[in-house]
Amino acid sequence: MDLSRAKRKLDHIRHALGHEHDIYSHFDDINIIHQSLTDLNFDQLHLGTNVGELTLSSPIFVNAMTGGGGDRTLRINRDLARAAAETGIGMAVGSQMSAIKDSSERPSYQVVRKENREGTIFANVGSEASLDQAKTAIDMIEADALQIHLNTLQELIMPEGDRDFSSRLHNIGTIAEIVDVPVIVKEVGYGMSTETMNVLIGAGIRYIDVAGRGGTNFSKVENMRREKPFASFNNWGIPTPMSLLEGRRLDEDLHILGSGGIRNGVDGAKSLVLGAEAFGMAGSLLKVLIEDGYDGLIEQIEHVKKEVKMVMMLTNSTEISELRHCPFTLHGETKEWIEQRKR
Ligand code: FNR
Repeated sequence: MDLSRAKRKLDHIRHALGHEHDIYSHFDDINIIHQSLTDLNFDQLHLGTNVGELTLSSPIFVNAMTGGGGDRTLRINRDLARAAAETGIGMAVGSQMSAIKDSSERPSYQVVRKENREGTIFANVGSEASLDQAKTAIDMIEADALQIHLNTLQELIMPEGDRDFSSRLHNIGTIAEIVDVPVIVKEVGYGMSTETMNVLIGAGIRYIDVAGRGGTNFSKVENMRREKPFASFNNWGIPTPMSLLEGRRLDEDLHILGSGGIRNGVDGAKSLVLGAEAFGMAGSLLKVLIEDGYDGLIEQIEHVKKEVKMVMMLTNSTEISELRHCPFTLHGETKEWIEQRKR
């Protein structure tokens, strides 16, 4: 086992749960317009939806977190996978590079498919991955889709991080062309701009998870592992609602997923109103699992599902896909953002 890599995985969990979160959420800048005259039956609302080629029983997924850190990460992935199966939501595993390089780490990822035979599961690699490594990651967990993460700032803050990204776009394009599952390019909490998304579209990408700022903050996480922190980057990145607005400026054929700082079902529904087709939650679900245990996690996911259905009721939306047509208003910094980005 690569001990330094395994230790890093455990550090990430500890610091992701321990760092100070922003007090202000840009999701509070969005108001979905309330509609009094709903004519729907709550018990008949269903959360099933399609995102491109993916058929999901719910627009919610557990975003990429862990694996590759020995038994502790195996147990976390097992519980997350069981909860995803029981509540009918999707799930991504954390970066599989450790298990690609060291097969003794594979069980900590494979447990996810073992516990959730029928569910929608995403594999995960960084943009340094070769085509063969991407295929190995997909096969390892019989994944329904592959996430490729972009984490430039995290790598730059990590003392042992990558510094050369010159082959990443080539890698992404090759993988997307060859593998036979959808390829989702995601950030890790810094959000994506229209410019970035346009380059990805040019490379053949049709699925993007903006993974914006507002929740787990990898600058803070990595700075907690440094003797001399780069604290000046603690607020770097594009908040999730703004990144979703960046995505709205692009072509219809792009499938956008929303994540980063989604605290509850209302934030999740706001991301759907802003144009996402599904939304991911990572750090907040891990915190519930660690603090309240498995039953607490199930209760939380069911609560989030109910909140999304309540927003469907209050906007008279029969289908998840209708939420994107709901009227909304923007306030504060998010309103300023959109005004300046129109120029
Ligand atoms: C992550 N995230 C992540 N993302 C990724 O693509 N590969 C990875 O290996 C990891 N590892 C990881 C570990 C831990 C402990 C956390 C909390 C998160 C990032 C994650 O998928 C997501 O993009 C961000 O955390 C933002 O979402 P939240 O946490 O604000 O909901």
